[in-house]
Amino acid sequence: MLRVTSFVHRFIKDVFTKPSVILDLTLGNGNDALFCLQMGHRVLGLDIQALAIERSERKCIAYPKHVFHQIDHAHLDRVIQEDLDCVLMNNGYLPYADAHITTTLESSLNALEKSIERLRPSGFLIITLYRKQDGGLNEAQGIEAYLRQNKKLRYNQSYTYDNDELAPLVLIFQKVDERP
Ligand SMILES: C[S@@+](CC[C@H](N)C(=O)[O-])C[C@H]1O[C@@H](n2cnc3c(N)ncnc32)[C@H](O)[C@@H]1O
Repeated sequence: MLRVTSFVHRFIKDVFTKPSVILDLTLGNGNDALFCLQMGHRVLGLDIQALAIERSERKCIAYPKHVFHQIDHAHLDRVIQEDLDCVLMNNGYLPYADAHITTTLESSLNALEKSIERLRPSGFLIITLYRKQDGGLNEAQGIEAYLRQNKKLRYNQSYTYDNDELAPLVLIFQKVDERP
């Protein structure tokens, strides 16, 4: 079975065939950022923890087309002014670090609302949710409900593992193109 991270990377590889601007709202260990940089994209990345920024900077050092900021993604408008082709969010906590520092429904919804404003028409939002973690199910349900009722977005697809209703879940939405 394809892992959720591999599913996300395959989607990015298939859909973003030209150099694009990608915002990673949860840099973590920088694995998604590195993949996008290797595909030739420009990556803007945020994380609330200095440790995540340090690990991501170290991992992505060979790829100059990145800018990383240590900030709560709820305040992304303070540092992100570019139009975006894609927004990534991989929720939860930083692996091999303090598991108590984790994404919350409130900051995630603020970050998503601000990201959608910066997303270009037809741009994609790709969100990975971990429903078995503490508070993860509530966060996943709140995020999915928010995205599904948002008139600026159209549901594209989801991916999870069979026979486990709390397995990791990828949700992909596309921004509606309202241009005449
Ligand atoms: C599961 S990790 C992300 C993994 C990452 N995408 C990768 O490729 O390695 C989740 C990250 O979200 C970060 N985070 C939690 N709350 C945040 C917030 N309010 N703003 C920004 N980052 C946050 C954590 O510090 C953690 O590094």
